[in-house]
Amino acid sequence: MSLPVAVFASGSGSNLQAILDYHASLDAPPWRVELAVSDQEEAKALERARRAGIRSRSLPVAGRSSGDVAGETLDILRFSGIGFIALAGYLRLIPADVVGAFRERMVNIHPALLPAFGGKGMYGMRVHEAVLAAGARVTGPTAHFVDEEYDRGPIIAQWPVPVRAGDDPHTLAARVLRVEHLLYPRVVDHLARALSRGCRPAPFSPRGTAFLANARATADVERAISAGFTED
Ligand code: GRF
Repeated sequence: MSLPVAVFASGSGSNLQAILDYHASLDAPPWRVELAVSDQEEAKALERARRAGIRSRSLPVAGRSSGDVAGETLDILRFSGIGFIALAGYLRLIPADVVGAFRERMVNIHPALLPAFGGKGMYGMRVHEAVLAAGARVTGPTAHFVDEEYDRGPIIAQWPVPVRAGDDPHTLAARVLRVEHLLYPRVVDHLARALSRGCRPAPFSPRGTAFLANARATADVERAISAGFTED
């Protein structure tokens, strides 16, 4: 039995698509995307899920109490036997009860090098505007476990992306997004494999400070990003 994974997305769902495409390229992976969830009924992400034959659920959040949303979220997740959650452009705070039920079994991708340029209100172009305004020379995606605050949980993987002279928020967003699409599916695969074996997944940091227990996963990400990411 493969591990059922849920992907939560509010918008375009290009990271959901990257996860689906990567999954399809693997030989009998021990996990599958079982469910896509969105707070936006019209999200393109849900359409992508339907096209891939994956169950999609809209979960309205606006104007509801956190307890109410938590209850419905947990019902949906239990109904599908979900064992792991990947947030992919999901703009709502995950209620504490859901975080507690999926501690170290829920990840997010953020388009900057956390802990900088994260937190409430830091999403979409605002992140890249802030990176440019700060004069940062390097940015890049961060995958991290989800806790009770926006963008604060333990970091799993980051990848540096250069900021170029003449960048605007859109050119920068596009460069980072291309790397997200290479990094995030591999992070999801790495963690979902560990969970499917009943292991506590060890973080891996492809470059930088912590080069931990997962040399193979790290090398795989390095290869994919070097092959798939050419400087524009
Ligand atoms: C990505 O930049 C991701 O880092 C952030 O939201 C964006 C989602 O894009 N959390 P998409 O919906 O996957 O295209």
